[in-house]
Amino acid sequence: MKQRILVLGANGQVGHACAEQLERKPADQVSEFLCLGRDRLDIGKPDALADAVRSFKPTLLINAAAYTNVEKAEEEEPLATQVNGHSVGVLAELCKAQGSLLVHYSTDYVFDGNTQRPYVETDAIAPQSGYGRSKALGETFIAQVGGDAVVLRTGWVFARHGDNFYKKMLRFGNQRDQLSVVDDQTGAPTPAEWLAELALRWGDLQSKGKGFPSGLFHAASQGQTTWYDYAELALDLAAGSPLLPKKPGLNRAKTADMNFKAKRPAYSVLNTQKLQTELGVTPPDGLMAVTQAVMSDIEDAKKEKKK
Ligand SMILES: NC(=O)c1ccc[n+]([C@@H]2O[C@H](COP(=O)([O-])OP(=O)(O)OC[C@H]3O[C@@H](n4cnc5c(N)ncnc54)[C@H](OP(=O)(O)O)[C@@H]3O)[C@@H](O)[C@H]2O)c1
Repeated sequence: MKQRILVLGANGQVGHACAEQLERKPADQVSEFLCLGRDRLDIGKPDALADAVRSFKPTLLINAAAYTNVEKAEEEEPLATQVNGHSVGVLAELCKAQGSLLVHYSTDYVFDGNTQRPYVETDAIAPQSGYGRSKALGETFIAQVGGDAVVLRTGWVFARHGDNFYKKMLRFGNQRDQLSVVDDQTGAPTPAEWLAELALRWGDLQSKGKGFPSGLFHAASQGQTTWYDYAELALDLAAGSPLLPKKPGLNRAKTADMNFKAKRPAYSVLNTQKLQTELGVTPPDGLMAVTQAVMSDIEDAKKEKKK
């Protein structure tokens, strides 16, 4: 079966990685793909969503679009709920009606974080923030609608394209002498490229017509770290390079002292055994992947400086 792949949220970290990987795929494997950013399709508008899906008729729809601003979602929960919840329900209905496979991303923030061991898919969710609740609603709608759907729950996503934690640390590090970062939240930095690869792998399995696993999967890097250690790694790597000429001081902080509007899980490491067993993949090492991304950014900054 020739694939027709529709990617939503194409300007975000994961959506952009999907678009890049599709550009590189051999033409005999993908007959057609369409990658739409928010500028071309606002998924918060169900009619526009229906028009796009019905006219393109994807075999695989990758939904990488989401309201992802965790702090702002505390003030704009109705909008986050529309984009991450209700619109995802509409997408699931559209995909089911057309026989399209839906691959959707969700978050570790559906958990409350009050555990000491990696979360498995069957653990009870208890979102603590507007963002977490909105993403949980999207998961619920997909499960209710049924059809061929895969939900990849992930966390701490980063990529060289787009904005994320390590980019913020390097940006703030250039602007301030001292940074304070919490050391009491633990997770696993997960590369967007790998999350894109997973979605496309599902498309390949579908196109071979031999069946594929579906449902909810935890998809995150191996290993675990705190935001503090993650920041220290990025700052140490970049210090003295054109990316960060002068390293700022880095101070340990506690979540309770940070005036965050949104409540975040203290521990949100995801157990990926189900994904490893059913899809036959090995997740990347999170901090190794961060190191590679920062080193590549440093190389680019050096080249830019030489120009
Ligand atoms: N980033 C993380 O740390 C993280 C952690 C756990 C789970 N996830 C999940 O992983 C998936 C991909 O996240 P990401 O890291 O790639 O996020 P991202 O970089 O913030 O990208 C999300 C994209 O969605 C777009 N978008 C927002 N509202 C939209 C709308 N109404 N219609 C169409 N597009 C819209 C954004 O456009 P604008 O740029 O114009 O706003 C952005 O390009 C999401 O489902 C997210 O919830 C992310």
